[in-house]
Amino acid sequence: MNIRVARVEDLMAMQAANLQNLPENYVMKFWIYHAMTWPQISFVAEDEKGRVVGYVLAKIEEPGEEGSEEVHGHVNSISVLRTYRRLGLAKRLMLLSQEAMAEIYGAKFVSLHVRESNKAAIGLYRDTLGFEVAKVEKKYYGDGEDAFSMRLNLKHTG
Ligand code: ACO
Repeated sequence: MNIRVARVEDLMAMQAANLQNLPENYVMKFWIYHAMTWPQISFVAEDEKGRVVGYVLAKIEEPGEEGSEEVHGHVNSISVLRTYRRLGLAKRLMLLSQEAMAEIYGAKFVSLHVRESNKAAIGLYRDTLGFEVAKVEKKYYGDGEDAFSMRLNLKHTG
């Protein structure tokens, strides 16, 4: 399984995987905007035939945006096709994105939202990657479910 930076030609497959895996979906304009604006921090996992089986879509928020005081990365969406789960792909996708956020953009931390019922994703973020719950956002999702707003500080090498 190969993991590489996402390219514009991957966006249709990334959107298709997102539709299959999550109820939070986005118009193509949103995917293109992210890929064009922050081209080094979104990644795909591909099988031996080059088919996209997982992705992470991320953005950078500058001080002042979204009430933030520090430059940071934000993971909009990550998912892995069902038959490719528990192979460590999401972990690898997240680590590559986090590293690029810190090295290329000087991001101080990475944030994301996750449904409080999403045990697999919370396991990935909290237990494997070391994220912590910064706050609970009540009724964040369209169906009324609460979100954990999670954060991880990023280490800087230079
Ligand atoms: N139950 C409990 N913990 C889990 C599970 C699970 N089903 N799946 C993963 N984890 C945790 C474990 O700690 C695991 O480490 P381990 O296998 O050594 O025990 C760790 O996460 C790493 O697992 P990966 O194999 O890297 O994760 P995977 O590639 O299977 O992808 C993901 C995890 C992305 C959550 C996948 O289950 C998925 O696509 N789910 C549907 C979409 C989704 O919920 N995406 C996240 C929404 S929030 C957001 O996008 C910001």
